[in-house]
Amino acid sequence: MKILFYMPHADVAEWLHDFARALPEADLREWQAGDTAPADFAVVWRPPREMFAGRADLRAIFNLGAGVDAILALEHAQPGTLPRNAQLIRLEDSGMAPQMAEYVTHAVLRYLRRFDEYQTQQDARRWQVLDPHPRETFTVGVLGLGVLGAHVARTLASFGLPVRGYSRSARDVAGITTFAGEAQFDAFLDGVKVLVNLLPHTPETGDVLNARTFAKLAQGAYLINVARGGHLVEQDLLDALASGQLAAATLDVFREEPLPPDHLFWQEPRITITPHMSALTLRAESVAQVARKIKALAHGDTVSGVVNLDRGY
Ligand code: NAP
Ligand code: GLV
Repeated sequence: MKILFYMPHADVAEWLHDFARALPEADLREWQAGDTAPADFAVVWRPPREMFAGRADLRAIFNLGAGVDAILALEHAQPGTLPRNAQLIRLEDSGMAPQMAEYVTHAVLRYLRRFDEYQTQQDARRWQVLDPHPRETFTVGVLGLGVLGAHVARTLASFGLPVRGYSRSARDVAGITTFAGEAQFDAFLDGVKVLVNLLPHTPETGDVLNARTFAKLAQGAYLINVARGGHLVEQDLLDALASGQLAAATLDVFREEPLPPDHLFWQEPRITITPHMSALTLRAESVAQVARKIKALAHGDTVSGVVNLDRGY
C-alpha cells in the first residue's frame, strides 16, 4: 500500500520513521510539489490543494488533528478538491483529551481561586485576601460534548463544580447537565460563569462567541476558547470586557495565527494568550491510531472518526 505524508513545520523524518515501524509493509513517502504518483492513503496536516489533484484512487485522508476545518475550507473554496471516494478521518483523542482537560482545568481553577487577580496584586506589592467565588454558582458551560468536550466536562465536575454541556444531538454524560440543539442554547447559557468552547468550526458554529452569547452569561463571566479563532467575534469580546459583562478570557486560538504583534488582544491584561498549544498532536499516539485504522481499512473493515462532510465535523 502507498501512503503520502504531509505535515508542515514537523520533523518529517521522525514521523516517517515511526510510521514505517508501525506499517512495515507500506510504501511511505513525503509528498512534494509535483508528486502525482499513485497513493492509497494520505496522512496530512494543513495540506496544499495540489496534493489531491487527480487522486481518484485515494481511499482515505487522515487528518493529523481533531479539527478538519482547514482541509474542509479547501473543499468549500473549490468543490471537488477532495477525491470523491476518499473518506476524511480525523484524530480521536490520541492523547489530546488529557492535555485539553489539564489546560481548561488550570484556567477554570485560576479564575475560581482568583489567581489572576492575586497576580495583579502581587505586581502592585499588595497583600489582600479576596472574597472567594462561591463554588455552587461557579457554573461551567462546555460548548461541544464530543471526544474532548465530554472529557473536559467530566474532569471539571470531579472538582465539585456545577457543569453543563451543549451539543447538537442529545448526550448523556454522567454528572453533567446536558442541553442540545439551538432550541436549548439560551437555557444552556443562562447564568453560566465560565464558558468553555470545544465546538468544531463549521458554517453553523462560526462567530458563536458573540455579544448575544456573552449577554446571557452571568455578570462578570469568564471565557475559555480552545477550539478555533473563527468562533470568536473579537470586537465583541473587547466590548464585553470593557463593560464588565466578561471579567477575563483565556484564548488558545485566533482568527490569525500567529497572533499579529499589533493585535489589540496583546494589550488587554484580562486576556490570557497561549499559542495554540492546549492539546498538541502527539506523534506516538497519533501514529498508532492512524496505523491501526489504515490496517483496518486495508482489511475492508470500517473505522471510527470518519468526518461527515455535510455537517463539517
Ligand atoms: P468532536 O468529538 O467531533 O465533538 C464535537 C462536539 O461539538 C459534539 O458534541 C457535537 O455535537 C458538537 N457540535 C458540533 N456542531 C454543533 C452545533 N452546530 N451545535 C451544537 N453542538 C455542535 O470533536 P472533538 O474531538 O471534541 O474536538 C473539538 C474541536 O476542538 C475540534 O474541532 C478542534 O477545532 C478543537 N481542537 C483544538 C485544539 C487546540 O489545541 N486548541 C486541539 C484539538 C482540537 P454531537 O455530539 O451532537 O455530534
Ligand atoms: C488542533 O487544533 C486540532 O484540531 O487537533
